[in-house]
Amino acid sequence: MDQIIKGFSKLSREEKIEILRRHFQLPEDFAEILKTFRHPDRQELFDDFSENTLSNFYLPFGVAPNFKIDDNMYVVPMVVEESSVVAAASRAASFWAKNGGFKTTIHNTLKKGHIWFKWDGPKSFFANMPEGLEEKLREAVVPLTANMEKRGGGVRAMEIIPLEGEYGLFQLHISFETVNSMGANFINSCLEEMKEPLKEFFNINKDFKQYGETEIIMAILSNYTTECLVTSTVECPIEALSPFSAGMEPAGFAQKFKRAVDIALSDTSRAVTHNKGIFNGTDAVVIATGNDFRAAEAAGHAWAAKDGKYRSLSSCEITEKGTFKMDLTLPLALGTVGGLTRLHPMAALALEMLGNPSADELMGIAAAAGLANNFSAVASLVTTGIQKGHMKLHLSNLLKSLNATEEEQKAAMDHFKNETVSALKVKEFLKR
Ligand code: MEV
Repeated sequence: MDQIIKGFSKLSREEKIEILRRHFQLPEDFAEILKTFRHPDRQELFDDFSENTLSNFYLPFGVAPNFKIDDNMYVVPMVVEESSVVAAASRAASFWAKNGGFKTTIHNTLKKGHIWFKWDGPKSFFANMPEGLEEKLREAVVPLTANMEKRGGGVRAMEIIPLEGEYGLFQLHISFETVNSMGANFINSCLEEMKEPLKEFFNINKDFKQYGETEIIMAILSNYTTECLVTSTVECPIEALSPFSAGMEPAGFAQKFKRAVDIALSDTSRAVTHNKGIFNGTDAVVIATGNDFRAAEAAGHAWAAKDGKYRSLSSCEITEKGTFKMDLTLPLALGTVGGLTRLHPMAALALEMLGNPSADELMGIAAAAGLANNFSAVASLVTTGIQKGHMKLHLSNLLKSLNATEEEQKAAMDHFKNETVSALKVKEFLKR
């Protein structure tokens, strides 16, 4: 398509589909295919989640049972397309349930937002908040904060911080408590409402005015939620690790496992893959519960690089007394009310399955899922490798992509029960 399509969003769905079909010379049944993935009676709801919605994009909604987290048992809903993720989470969950379970520490739950502004005066003016400014800004958002305050949240603290190395650029840093909501809309609404009074404060106050006009540059929450941190931990005696050691002595396995985690703590290339394995679990819960996985990812990766080098989010320790310990710490700003959490029927169901948790509880669950997947992945990597299990689970996808008949699929499933799966071997099997 080399020309601009004007007013596309204003066209009806049928018109959009027809335009695309013609431009891309798609098959006649393009509209029919899209239609088969539309919901028979709740499509309007899904259409409204986004713009230019043509149909729905299905992903599996699975569950990983037997998660023991802070002495509660959960069946954890996971939305993910990678075949081995739920199986890996489930296997680790069952193992840890028998070995004390996952323990959660919520370090804090604050979120933050900034109003960025330009003012050409000295930084020393902001050693403390200018007198009267905080009150003025808080007052401006009373209509927005009243309800949040009833739920125990609201604006917590403010300070003005100069932009590092830059003259004349500042952030008004505001921290918020948003209780069980992720709070993005609440925070952004408050920040935008404060822009005008902030500008007014500086432009009528002669101490500030002498340095010229203040210009508001932008107001937005920060997804770097370093004050909304959760740690999930597991520990067990080294000998208990034998179900994961694939025949190795548990002590040797534990040492090798720790080395693999240490590699991810110091080598960035490995750390990215290692952390991807963590987000396999965490994101699957974040998505299943209608939360913003891009926000979780962005915050998590920035946190992994907090000391200037990108490192593993998890670490492993073996104590002198022979205890194997693993922990995962990451920022996770999640909500269990607001946003899509209750609007998306599957997200609402997922939260119900989890016993309608608080946001803190959900942070612990998502972190535990991340740690479970991380544990399973590293255990496989230092023993059998991941492909054996992964390809077994991927076999049915492979067979379908090769257009195997039902009979061929059954025969292949039988044949590969005790055989290593590879795309080539599957092709050869089908040929035979
Ligand atoms: C695959 O989705 C995730 C892993 O690569 C994670 C890891 O290497 O730790 C297995």
